[in-house]
Amino acid sequence: MCGIVGYIGHREAYPVVLKGLKRLEYRGYDSSGVALLNNGQLNVYKKKGKVSEMEEDTMGKDVHSHIGIGHTRWATHGEPSDRNAHPHVSQSGNLAMIHNGIIENYAPIKQELISKGYDFKSDTDTEVLLNFIEDIKKNNDCSLEEALRIALKRIVGAYCILLISKDDPETIIAARKGSPLVIGIGKGEHFLASDASPIIEYTKEVVYVNDYEIAIVRADELILKNLGNEKQTPFITKLDMELAAIEKGGYEHFMLKEIYEQPDTIFDCLRGRLLPQTGQIIMSGVDNHIDALKNAQRILIVACGTSWHAGLIAEYQIEELCRIPVEVEYASEFRYRNPVINKGDVIIAISQSGETADTLVALESAKEKGAFIFGVVNAVGSSIARLSHAGAYTHAGPEIGVASTKAFTGQLAVLIMMALKIGYAKGTIEESRYLSLMKELEAVPEKVKEILADTSNIQRIAKKYKDASDFLFLGRGYNFPVALEGALKLKEISYIHAEGYPAAEMKHGPIALVDDKLPVVFVATKDSYYEKIVSNVQEIKARKGMVIAVATTNDNIIPGMADDVMFVPDTDEVIAPLLSTIPLQLLSYYVGLAKGLDVDKPRNLAKSVTVE
Ligand code: F6R
Repeated sequence: MCGIVGYIGHREAYPVVLKGLKRLEYRGYDSSGVALLNNGQLNVYKKKGKVSEMEEDTMGKDVHSHIGIGHTRWATHGEPSDRNAHPHVSQSGNLAMIHNGIIENYAPIKQELISKGYDFKSDTDTEVLLNFIEDIKKNNDCSLEEALRIALKRIVGAYCILLISKDDPETIIAARKGSPLVIGIGKGEHFLASDASPIIEYTKEVVYVNDYEIAIVRADELILKNLGNEKQTPFITKLDMELAAIEKGGYEHFMLKEIYEQPDTIFDCLRGRLLPQTGQIIMSGVDNHIDALKNAQRILIVACGTSWHAGLIAEYQIEELCRIPVEVEYASEFRYRNPVINKGDVIIAISQSGETADTLVALESAKEKGAFIFGVVNAVGSSIARLSHAGAYTHAGPEIGVASTKAFTGQLAVLIMMALKIGYAKGTIEESRYLSLMKELEAVPEKVKEILADTSNIQRIAKKYKDASDFLFLGRGYNFPVALEGALKLKEISYIHAEGYPAAEMKHGPIALVDDKLPVVFVATKDSYYEKIVSNVQEIKARKGMVIAVATTNDNIIPGMADDVMFVPDTDEVIAPLLSTIPLQLLSYYVGLAKGLDVDKPRNLAKSVTVE
């Protein structure tokens, strides 16, 4: 949610910043801009639309500079427009700033500044913060750094900001609270960004800036301070990521690439952890806290969106295999309803980005109440990973497509391993079932490969139904959350209204929607609910609904009833979501594609939602 890039050093800043913005565009793409300092001149270029539109707009303009900041925006305050795009320039014209986050108390500060004669060129909270800093600097006759420190102590909200000044063209000042900031350390140069993807091609040495820290960044110097003006020691981390992981590698879209990566990403997630030959599952985060986990009185799973769906699947798995009651919470609701957290409760936080503000603040408050937090996170070193007491990474690699695919299956792989491990330690799962589920899980990457080997049938189905205005997605048991995820994916990518329901719930209301124009997707693989879902399919067919089924390869009943079928290999029902979700990812991708939409950057969305 909003991407931030900065550069200072011996290279031309603009190409570095521009390339970085393109890499970060998945975080927001309604407008973008850059600010460059050259010979006492502050050049700011910004434009509504994608980064390429801003790039076009700068053609022939002066972009020469060795210091620059850039921003790609996901609008919060103020509609997407040229004037609301970042960077913003202060009233005096001396300062330029970019910001990712929300200043919650911007309104009274804006009033205060208006009464002092400030006028605002945008509707953003960012411009308010910038002029606030300038006003403090003027009134206190202090340095910019000091003014920033005073301002940050007064504001409420989340921020990652980069600030440059005409008076000091050798310095970028950065600060963060709640929104991510990584600083790449080069030779005589520094790179700043919301995540490591703009940095990786230049250096692998990075510093993850912590909340309430201010960074004073010069070409050959990085100073970190806290808000009390005390120097902090920068902790240098080596990036374990290759450039290829963040490029499209010949695929038309990141989403397709990421769908196709799943045999490898699931394999990577299981590798070294799942050892069916010895009957072991090695996960140090779980091993080190096995008592807290197996003796948990209750497990609360906190997440948003697709990660929340992974949590719902884990609820079924943990309750069945570990006999521990599980509640799955939307992070945004959990945080604000003052939840009861008892001693012995364990919180599992699930997040691809590790930066989702709703999840992060929910965890912060749960942590304050003494909860033990286990993070299931994809982005290494992210805020949620660092806040958790223990955790397991999903190892899916950077996910750039806005709609989550490989991160979701990575989450499922981690969560089922956890359930197996805890259940086995607790004695709530029989050895034979434990071993057979391990074997089934080990076979998943190859089975995903089988599904991906030929997608022509799914492409045909996508074209057939692309003009439908609504879809229903139905499933039972382990496949119910898969139906929810299928509906979410289709909504995001194709803008078709889609709803997911437990198949049996249909007769309590949604069946009224069924007619000969409504495609109903049944996730109906062979499991213990199979006969029941066959009846549900019949109920839809009896009302002339169009049925698209996800069915098991050897099924000979559902294919005779459904209008169209997408097959998946057979597996244990506990593992089934890892397979049944794949055709639904492909279906939404190909529907979006058939509609000519930008599947990697669906409208109004952003990856990594760092505002509450
Ligand atoms: C949907 C999607 C979102 C995210 C949600 C949580 O395709 O990607 O629903 O799952 O915003 O994000 P993370 O997992 O980063 O916390």
